[in-house]
Amino acid sequence: MSTSFLAINFAYVISAALFIFGLKMLSSPATARRGNLVSAVGMLLAIVVTLFTQGLDYKWILVGVIIGTAVGLVAAYKVEMTSMPEMVALFNGFGGLASMLLAWAEYHQNPELSVFIGIVASLSAFIGGVTFSGSMVAFGKLSEMIPGKAVVFKGQHLINAGILLAVLAATVLFAANSEGLYGVFILIVIIALIFGVTSVIPIGGADMPVVISLLNSYSGLAACAAGFVIGNNILIVAGALVGASGIILTKIMCKAMNRSLANVLFSGFGATTAKSAGDGPQGEVKPATAEDVYCILEAASSVAFVPGYGLAVAQAQHVTRELGDLLEANGAEVLYAIHPVAGRMPGHMNVLLAEANVPYDQLIEMDDINPRMDSIDVCVVIGANDVVNPAALNDESSSIYGMPIIETHRAKTVIVLKRSMKPGFAGIENALFYGENTRMYFGDAKASIQALVAEFKSAD
Ligand code: TAP
Repeated sequence: MSTSFLAINFAYVISAALFIFGLKMLSSPATARRGNLVSAVGMLLAIVVTLFTQGLDYKWILVGVIIGTAVGLVAAYKVEMTSMPEMVALFNGFGGLASMLLAWAEYHQNPELSVFIGIVASLSAFIGGVTFSGSMVAFGKLSEMIPGKAVVFKGQHLINAGILLAVLAATVLFAANSEGLYGVFILIVIIALIFGVTSVIPIGGADMPVVISLLNSYSGLAACAAGFVIGNNILIVAGALVGASGIILTKIMCKAMNRSLANVLFSGFGATTAKSAGDGPQGEVKPATAEDVYCILEAASSVAFVPGYGLAVAQAQHVTRELGDLLEANGAEVLYAIHPVAGRMPGHMNVLLAEANVPYDQLIEMDDINPRMDSIDVCVVIGANDVVNPAALNDESSSIYGMPIIETHRAKTVIVLKRSMKPGFAGIENALFYGENTRMYFGDAKASIQALVAEFKSAD
């Protein structure tokens, strides 16, 4: 074993340790920023050390680095926070594509693969291809370039099962003797690209967060397999970490929606048409002015803000924090209740509130706020809809039935900030807006909260 081989692998061990510590730090809002930096340092070390591998063609690597850096920089500055899930879908997709191409290039260079390398090359090509085309469909659905609805057709599961069997047979054939089986390898790639589309298209837009997280896991598995193909230890470790963390996040999200992964993947959630207007919630909508809401808040001794996607659209996080501070100064206990799938990406609300420097001890998770909801004076729902929809608890025919929600309807008073009566992501009506204890405060969330802040300040 050469000294350079040992040195490179020693550096890889340090990179792997930095990835693991970084991941651990990501689990708390207080350390997440540093965790990201620690992981990035680990990645930089891994890249620099890999460049010392013998026999590299630096010309092409430089081209890749320049293009990748330019795209990454522009995306980091330009992409809106609300479009992050689409960007993550693209990143996952290109990660999968890279693994697929890596396996392909390795086979192209050396057509006589061992059985083991034949298996991992097929896996890398298959999982990478599925990740790529599946992520492109997810991107299309989230950016509304294609309809977000679940597209289901007869015999879909049979077709998908047939595709899986075909790829299994092709992999066995290819791994047994890869030489001269270029056509079989290309067949695996084509099947993978088709399977990515046929497996994501039946999944409805409301389940896209789970799918993106699952595709993220796939991209890690593809990278792990590619690591075996080219014998690169850090690619194996990093791929395994992405694969494992992606599947853990997928599981957490399924649990947050009270659904099984099989149900998310195969039930065609959201394919059914919305209910007719006659089935809508009963009751009266009671609009409120800034002054009305001010009077309610001014008298409250406990206020829970419940942010949702509309907070991100309105960019109302800073004014919300300002209002929270004013309420605290007025003697109220202030909390920010976070639903795990509020917004459009995991941790969306945490990121926005952290940006506004909301103290971490005021953030409260759904499972901790619900038991004390009856004693909360006022819940201020800011641009949230599906995550506070009581249909999830009491309407078995609803497409979100079974999803845990923040039970704002149990608070003494609920104030809902939104612009209209339009539904949220799942496209369904919300009985909360018609509740006895609910007041609708219509308008853009940022402007509405600014008006409340002005009311508090003028009362001083
Ligand atoms: P939604 O149910 O999508 O509701 C958002 C509400 O915000 C809308 O009803 C909209 O009403 C309001 N809104 C939009 N812009 C606004 C503005 N400028 N000012 C005030 N209100 C505004 O959001 P949610 O409650 O956060 O639920 C999230 C949904 O997205 C769930 O169905 C979840 O499954 C899905 N999803 C989640 C993720 C993740 S991982 N978080 C990813 C993808 C999808 P108006 O138009 O009337 O203003």
